[in-house]
Amino acid sequence: MAKLNVNGAVREFEAEGDTPLLWVLREQLGLTGTKYGCGIAACGACTVHIDGVPTRTCVRPVSTVEEKEKILTIEGLGLSGLHPVQKAWAALDVPQCGFCQSGMIMATVALLKEKPNPSDADIDAAITNICRCGTYNRIRAAIKVVANGGNTKTAALSIQHADGSTT
Ligand code: FES
Ligand code: FES
Repeated sequence: MAKLNVNGAVREFEAEGDTPLLWVLREQLGLTGTKYGCGIAACGACTVHIDGVPTRTCVRPVSTVEEKEKILTIEGLGLSGLHPVQKAWAALDVPQCGFCQSGMIMATVALLKEKPNPSDADIDAAITNICRCGTYNRIRAAIKVVANGGNTKTAALSIQHADGSTT
């Protein structure tokens, strides 16, 4: 059996070498938080980290991932409490249908590790994921909340929520 290191544990699987990593994660390891959107590396719904690098798994043959490489999926991100990015997402009600959001969050976590206070241009360059619900503005706002230490007030944002309240 082949092995992968996923979310801190060694996991065994059986699949043809050209099987995309996405399908091993979802169908064999039960990690369905990572989504299938386009299958051609265009939308980012399937993004996980491999050794910290955001990776679109729909086009990554599983045979090219070594056991020593550490895979982090959305399920592993909040294992020891919600990640600051997840907290900001919740505070600003970012998701609509939610389908793209695990990929968005994984891409954002990678961006903030590299650039803790990204400019709009940095965000545009790094977050190329597609959201059919159009949550782009709130994603940008949530990234700025994290960059401002998680405080929605100091982020100087004014987000109107469905119940009429503002953040
Ligand atoms: S499903 Fe992988 S990028 Fe769209
Ligand atoms: S929240 Fe629906 S696709 Fe992004």
